[in-house]
Amino acid sequence: MMESVRKVEATREARMAAEPRRLTAEEKDNLLKEFHPDYREEAFEEIKVGPNKGQKANKELVHLLHSNSRLLNSKTDLSNPDYDVDVLVIGGGGAGASCAIEAHNAGANVMIVTKLRIGDANTMMAEGGIQAADKENDSPVQHYLDAFGGGHFAAKPELVKRLVMEAPDAIKWLNELGVEFDKEDDGRMITTHGGGTSRKRMHAAKDYSGAEIMRTLRDEVLNRQIPVVEFTSAVELIKDDKGQVAGAVLLNMETGDYSVARAKTVVLATGGAGRMHYQGFPTSNHYGATADGLIMGYRAGAKLLYQDSIQYHPTGAVYPSQLLGALVTEKVRSLGAQLVNAEGEAYIHPLETRDVNASGVIRECQEGRGVEVPGGQKGVWLDTPMIEILGGEGTIEARIPAMFRMYMKYGIDMRKVPILIYPTLHYQNGGVEIEADGFTKAIPNLLVAGEAVGGIHGRNRLMGNSLLDIIVFGRNAGKAAAAKAKDVTLGAMTLEHVEKYAEELAAANATEEGVSPLLLPKYARHESAVE
Ligand code: FUM
Repeated sequence: MMESVRKVEATREARMAAEPRRLTAEEKDNLLKEFHPDYREEAFEEIKVGPNKGQKANKELVHLLHSNSRLLNSKTDLSNPDYDVDVLVIGGGGAGASCAIEAHNAGANVMIVTKLRIGDANTMMAEGGIQAADKENDSPVQHYLDAFGGGHFAAKPELVKRLVMEAPDAIKWLNELGVEFDKEDDGRMITTHGGGTSRKRMHAAKDYSGAEIMRTLRDEVLNRQIPVVEFTSAVELIKDDKGQVAGAVLLNMETGDYSVARAKTVVLATGGAGRMHYQGFPTSNHYGATADGLIMGYRAGAKLLYQDSIQYHPTGAVYPSQLLGALVTEKVRSLGAQLVNAEGEAYIHPLETRDVNASGVIRECQEGRGVEVPGGQKGVWLDTPMIEILGGEGTIEARIPAMFRMYMKYGIDMRKVPILIYPTLHYQNGGVEIEADGFTKAIPNLLVAGEAVGGIHGRNRLMGNSLLDIIVFGRNAGKAAAAKAKDVTLGAMTLEHVEKYAEELAAANATEEGVSPLLLPKYARHESAVE
């Protein structure tokens, strides 16, 4: 390792004088096809039942889609609900909280149910920032082109349009709620580039942007006294005899007891899937990110979109081993750090889109230009001392203080030495398909917001567009769910779809061992009755 550090130091001056060139579209495509994990055919399986039958997904997700419900043959009594609300929000992250605030604003009787605590979510883990084209040299159209192109032209245009058009208002809303964005002395927001952005439109709160946003949203939810049922996971959607969504069955994670929530509209805001550890990758995700919304929605009949597309963030920590998979924010590269291989070569531009940069890291390691760390993993360098040279002494502590502290805990001073990284499972690009208004097509009155949605980002998301989508689509879902709830008359509640799905699995000879949704990763300490 030290020999390689010396090569990084020896080449720094020359590398800084000549910025790495951008790849051509063809070079990017070839790199992705050869090295991106989404192209590893052996990691995927076919889905045998349901709306996406015949399509593929990572084996770990297919296993859950082919598993039975915890409630199969359980004879759950739905006749006397424990909760009866207008809007049920499943998930207590940024999307769920934004949704609940707007539903509450609209006068709805809204309740959040969340598997862990409110704020235990990927929102809290987000570091680098939130995009919005709100400066003179920028426009939502420019933002659209970046996001749509970065997602390989696969996103649903109407969703990208909403994302970018409503972005400036999302920033204004957060600012007024009290988010402490980084600002110039004159009060203007400081904005930077992210991978694939043609303008500096990343608004941040240092390198803990997500935590700052979540802190603010959580305070707002609690100040409004919106009911939040914590340590309680939705395990199945309930429908009524007209096929409308009608609530959810909830599982108390501590006692193992079930309860029933009836609701006129339901918003799935269950977040991501990093703890599925697709293809054995470590993850930057929070503990409860196990694709629950995809499983519940699918079993009830909702369609998935791009369920086979996963984002591996190029810069997860690979050394020291205690940090394996932890996010090293893209902001480190925005501030000037280059990606450098074991030979001291800046082999790629540091702000290519994430899928391209992740593939580049994997290529360098597979082709023998990676650095082996104790434990056998490989990685490449992120040349962090460049940040201080380019931005001046003190830039690291001022702009990425959390990252600085994280490494200092292990005696690594990133101002003086480069750090080692390898891709980490960061985001599910795919999820439940929605229309522009947030509703699913297949299940009346079911909405989805946040990372559980598929189609906003196509097959690759740009940095800062996730913190944005949870606000834009979370708020819209709250408004739409509250408005719709006024017209809904529920019929008799039923879990018939759960039995039907099990029958389909059996008929396809596809039933797998175990139950889903997973709720917690396999290595969780189970101190409760919940398996
Ligand atoms: O690199 C990051 O800070 C991650 C941001 C994001 O996923 O949007």
